[in-house]
Amino acid sequence: MSPTDAATQAKPTATHDRRVATPRRFLMCPPRHFDVTYSINPWMDPAKPVDGELALAQWTELGNLYRELGHTVEVIEPVPGLPDMVFAANGATVVDGRVFGARFRHAERTAEGPAYLSWFVAQGYADVYWPEHINEGEGDYLVVGRKVLAGTGFRTDPRSHAEAQEFFGLPVIGLTLVNPEFYHLDTALAVLSDDEVMYYPEAFTPGSQAVLRELFPDAIRATAEDAAVFGLNALSDGRHVLLPAAAVNLKRQLAARGFEPIGAELGELLKAGGSVKCCTLELRPER
Ligand code: ARG
Repeated sequence: MSPTDAATQAKPTATHDRRVATPRRFLMCPPRHFDVTYSINPWMDPAKPVDGELALAQWTELGNLYRELGHTVEVIEPVPGLPDMVFAANGATVVDGRVFGARFRHAERTAEGPAYLSWFVAQGYADVYWPEHINEGEGDYLVVGRKVLAGTGFRTDPRSHAEAQEFFGLPVIGLTLVNPEFYHLDTALAVLSDDEVMYYPEAFTPGSQAVLRELFPDAIRATAEDAAVFGLNALSDGRHVLLPAAAVNLKRQLAARGFEPIGAELGELLKAGGSVKCCTLELRPER
């Protein structure tokens, strides 16, 4: 059954009626030059072989799922020598049609910042900003309604949070990550709707855990098992939640809240420490 069939055949229960998917626009980058040639997070082992064809097939399937669900997928050309460019989420943060560029922490990825920014300029985006401080795009900036959650601890410089707040004119809430396996905010927390998230508490400092409890008292908390299979690297359209298929508890918890979890297989990309959300940059339109 395709996800579209699943959507139309889903029982019209009261809970399901509440969940409305809104069409999204995504930017993705085909993993044609994908490989693990260096290690900048604990998932990356250059000694482990990567199947490039399989990576491309898994990535293609994700894009097809988005299209079947009614979303638009834009594609940026990958650049040779930038194996992590497939992780489009890191390329920028786009809110209200305004583009806050990314500036990478590691030398291996620095050229991706300008590559992504040029794409936005070529597409005619008028408000494109080159940042002063290090930030890794939607890896560390996640938009929840009209608020922005901002990770720091491993990649994004905390000074970037004030810079982003000034640029977007939206409240930016800083959260500190502590576990190197969850080095980007989008590996430890996923946005489900305008006021709901799911997250793995142990990935954050005690203070940040308290902030999350304050903001989202009813949030879904992920188990260590689900976090370890990258289950929080998920993308929600308000109804469908695409996430790594192995995150079995999360799928159950999502379904219980009226979401439709859709498992995706992105095992080759996980070898670089990325999955569904990492491959997806949301292009939020002007409003
Ligand atoms: N190998 C990449 C890195 O460590 C993976 C990036 C994953 N992207 C993400 N949005 N979490 O930078």
